[in-house]
Parts: sequence; C-alpha cells; structure tokens
Amino acid sequence: MTPPQTSREWNAGEYHRLSAPQFQWGQRVLSELHLRGDECVLDAGCGTGKLTRLLLQNLPYGRVVGLDLSRNMVRLAHDSLKAEFAGRVQFVAADLVALPFRECFDGIFSTASFHWVLDHDALFRNLFASLKGGGWLHAQCGGGPNLARLRERVRSLSRTLAFAHWLAGFSEPWFFSDAQGAASRLRAAGFEGCEAGLEPASFAVSTSQEFQDYLRTFVLHRHLELLPEEELRNSFVCQLADTSAQDDPPWTLDYWRLNLRARKPE
Ligand SMILES: C[S@@+](CC[C@H](N)C(=O)[O-])C[C@H]1O[C@@H](n2cnc3c(N)ncnc32)[C@H](O)[C@@H]1O
Repeated sequence: MTPPQTSREWNAGEYHRLSAPQFQWGQRVLSELHLRGDECVLDAGCGTGKLTRLLLQNLPYGRVVGLDLSRNMVRLAHDSLKAEFAGRVQFVAADLVALPFRECFDGIFSTASFHWVLDHDALFRNLFASLKGGGWLHAQCGGGPNLARLRERVRSLSRTLAFAHWLAGFSEPWFFSDAQGAASRLRAAGFEGCEAGLEPASFAVSTSQEFQDYLRTFVLHRHLELLPEEELRNSFVCQLADTSAQDDPPWTLDYWRLNLRARKPE
C-alpha cells in the first residue's frame, strides 16, 4: 500500500499567533551568535519570519535569505519584512534537502525546523555545500525524547477503531536525533568543531482550547490532514486534550531541544 501523502503546508496565520514558545527558544539561540554585523546568513526553515526580523536587526550591514518549504510561511514572512528591510532580505520557497546554493553564506541559523526533515545526512550535506569556507552553523531543533509522552498518546489513539482506517499506517513526520548521532552526521558531512546537546524545554498551556489549537497548528497538522471530516479532527484533538488535562500541570507539552553548532573548514 502507498503511504498516505500530506501537503507539508502550514497554517501560517495560526503559527504566527501561537508561536511564542518557539520565538523565545529562537531568541536565546540568536543571542548566542557572535555576529560582526555584515554577514550574509541563511535562516533555514524561517517560518513566518519573526526570528528573521531579529536576525536582520542584528546584521545592520548584512543580508539574510529566509528559506522555507511552506509557501504560506514564505508569503507571510515576505509580506511582513520586505518593506522594512528592502534590499537586505530575500525569501525562497525550497526544500532543505535540495538547496539551490553553493558557498553563498557566512552562517546558517535555524530554529525548530530540522526535525521536520527525515534525512539528516542529506540535510547536513546541503547545509555544508551552501556555506562559504569558515562558515558557521548554529541551530536548534527537536531531539531525543521530544514529545515522547504526547507521541505515545497519539499512536495509541491512531490505532483505535475511530481513526485506524486513516492513521494506522501513517509514519511520524519527524526525526528527533540524539546528540551523539547528530554530531557524527555533522562530521560525516564535513563539518568540524561539532557540538550537539539536548535540553528539556517543556511548557504548559492554560486551557484545553489552547492545547487543541496548539496541536492542530504545530504538532499534528499532518496527521489531521488525513482525517476526512472536521468532526473526526475535532474528536482526535479533544481526546488528546482530555487525557492531557490529567497531567501535572495540565496540558504540558514535553518538549526537548537539540542544540547544534559546527563550522565548515576554511
Ligand atoms: C516550527 S516552524 C519553525 C519556524 C521558525 N524557524 C521559528 O522558529 O518560528 C518549522 C518550519 O520548518 C519548515 N520546514 C519543514 N520541513 C522543511 C524542509 N524540508 N525544507 C524547508 N523548510 C522546512 C516548515 O515549513 C516550517 O515553517
């Protein structure tokens, strides 16, 4: 049987509204960059451009290319930043495993995106080829036991009679690498000075509705695309919210982040 296909699109408006945790995580990653201010940087998986904006503010004489697979995301990022940073920012809709760049960037910044790419060998080869000699990679994504509790609940619910027809054969759309595996894949792609480390980053939302909105937009949009009716989609996220209401604190998302740093040899 052919595995079910999903669009890989995002609801960019909802992402922009609900992405405060991702923005906070990204701000911390950004605060650790040592920028001169005139570099050309790739924001790999730029989403709606919230962090692209901060990157541009930290590069007063530099340029940023924001790249994302989702046309909805690229459109929103372009519309919100193009006028403010005319001439210093460009947006590209492309896949991180088929990058159209060769030795273009002084640095690559990326947050909350790499775990959506299943083939990290191809990902790191593409990033390596896009960097100039001496260029840096500074990224954070989901890793290790990211969302393990929630994912187990999703798998169990997907096997129940109401959902199995659509979801039983669906493979998870993420790859959550461990730190050791990520570092050795970076080295295999040619990087040096490779550092990789995991950190817990769980947080709780305040209401069942917020939890459901969050699941629909961030975690389960690909699963939900496979359910043919709104009633089924609603029931799926409602049941997960009801189970998560019993957690302490309620509606906790058990996130883990993988931090990555590496450099291309001169
Ligand atoms: C959770 S969002 C993160 C956006 C932004 N970096 C942030 O931190 O708010 C993940 C982004 O990765 C993008 N993405 C997923 N797979 C991709 C791929 N293969 N190539 C390019 N972008 C991809 C998605 O379209 C989405 O915009």
